[in-house]
Amino acid sequence: MTERITKHKILDDLELNIVPFTWNNHTLYGNEGESVTAALLANNIRKIREHEKDGQPRGMYCNIGHCSECRVTVNGKRNQRACLTPLVQDMVIEQQFEIPYVVKEGSPYV
Ligand code: FES
Repeated sequence: MTERITKHKILDDLELNIVPFTWNNHTLYGNEGESVTAALLANNIRKIREHEKDGQPRGMYCNIGHCSECRVTVNGKRNQRACLTPLVQDMVIEQQFEIPYVVKEGSPYV
């Protein structure tokens, strides 16, 4: 079920509070409070979205909130950075397929 390290020789054992969440209409399980990217990685999900222009797979890159490669829709709210979003029970997380409005076609940034 998980690729998560729960026992470590130096660190204390990780106490888990496993909760369900939804990723693209599939029920998965993660440790409440961990980042959404950590929960997805623990479920062997590496592709978080596709590049809006060429469809190339995109995943976690910086994991500190700078690159926005991990943007997803969380509970209907678009452009949430999965690496900065703590997992909450029954959270609904979805892949995004559209260019965010700040770089939509016609924008000077495209
Ligand atoms: S991985 Fe870079 S902002 Fe989330």
